[in-house]
Amino acid sequence: MPYDIADPGLADDGKRRILWAEQDMPVLGIIQDRFAKEKPLQGVPIAACLHVTAETANLARTLKAGGADLRLCASNPLSTQDDVTASLVRDFGVDVFARHGVDTEGYYKHIHACLEHNPILTMDDGCDLVSTLHQEYPERVETVRCGMEETTTGVIRLRAMHNDGVLKYPVIAVNDADTKHLFDNRYGTGQSTVDGIIRATDVLLAGKTVIVAGYGWCGRGFATRCRGMGAHVVVTEIDPVRALEAMMDGFRVMSMEEAAPIGEVFCTLTGDINVIRLEHFRKMKNGAIVANSGHFNVELDLENLGKAADKVERGVRNNVDAYYLDGKKIHVLAEGRLVNLSAAEGHPASVMDMSFAVQALSSEYALTHDLTLGVHPVPKDIDQWVARLKLQSMNVEIDTLTSEQEKYLASWDMGT
Ligand code: NAI
Repeated sequence: MPYDIADPGLADDGKRRILWAEQDMPVLGIIQDRFAKEKPLQGVPIAACLHVTAETANLARTLKAGGADLRLCASNPLSTQDDVTASLVRDFGVDVFARHGVDTEGYYKHIHACLEHNPILTMDDGCDLVSTLHQEYPERVETVRCGMEETTTGVIRLRAMHNDGVLKYPVIAVNDADTKHLFDNRYGTGQSTVDGIIRATDVLLAGKTVIVAGYGWCGRGFATRCRGMGAHVVVTEIDPVRALEAMMDGFRVMSMEEAAPIGEVFCTLTGDINVIRLEHFRKMKNGAIVANSGHFNVELDLENLGKAADKVERGVRNNVDAYYLDGKKIHVLAEGRLVNLSAAEGHPASVMDMSFAVQALSSEYALTHDLTLGVHPVPKDIDQWVARLKLQSMNVEIDTLTSEQEKYLASWDMGT
């Protein structure tokens, strides 16, 4: 069985964590039971490039239960949980190629290992797998039936590929399902980003001024949670509607230039590049904490910060580097990589239950439907089904339309 992991000896710890997460993933569990009986993915080679966490392990088990011939690699060098990879290989027979802290060369070697498996389906988080496949394996692209994409940044890249006329197979934008981004990006990233910043620094958020760059799904979740913990939250945006929304949600809104000198904790959640630049770092207070929770580590301009700094002290705490600049010290977390996955455990299982239920059902849908080239939404009934089952697992009943209400909502002739 081919694999490349850090330490097989960690498998017992990994198994405990996978089974712990499973308890909070009831919707995925129902799909897993059905997949085990019906085998909708029987013999289908799948290349999956996802954050390799305990929750992802449960998705991998579900795909395997459905008969998939799965290869799994990491979608970020720092998010891999080595105990989970060990258990996936030993206990669940998954071919895993992922090591925490791997360098860029090793990261792409793992992606290649998955692609050399000739996938029929791809499952990506950030589009590194799909873009590598298109650029380096033109002949293999032809045999891929469909892909699934997990995150906002990946969907943006795929749409750009399609607009440039280079995307060669249809992709389902799992991120855009309501049961994904409304919950995973907002509640999952919101909470786990706070968790990552606290685990890395032990900072008390109460009374601190926290600067949140980006008021999208992730930014809203993070800003709201910081406020809940007593922080003074400032939002920076480039979209006037989102900025207005942040204002009316009760946050202060200003430019990064204005925010830089007053912030004590900064976090970018934009999917954009160089959101915090050297001119901003120069204005920050001594001891400022700077993190990113957007998909790529390009949101902070660490290259120019590093060049301008008098000294960089690595690892002053786990996941904290100190940059000495203009007589001040700036603390950068997790090398600017997603802080929630690098310094904490990523999203709680309860929220990944929905995202991964959508992933599993979308892979089944992709095999049974002929999709045209392009980036497709997740079918509405998959979204509705996942939401219903999640509510059921919480013992929550909701109303159903009466026939009178159905008729009324479909009519136009009844007015005042
Ligand atoms: P979104 O599109 O809903 O929000 C992004 C926001 O950032 C938009 O309102 C946009 O106007 C704003 N923005 C763009 N450039 C900016 C700039 N220079 N300054 C200030 N604001 C700016 O996207 P979403 O879903 O909130 O995702 C954001 C990022 O987080 C993406 O890279 C996504 O892939 C990633 N993500 C990370 C997760 C994690 O586990 N850390 C989980 C889910 C998504």
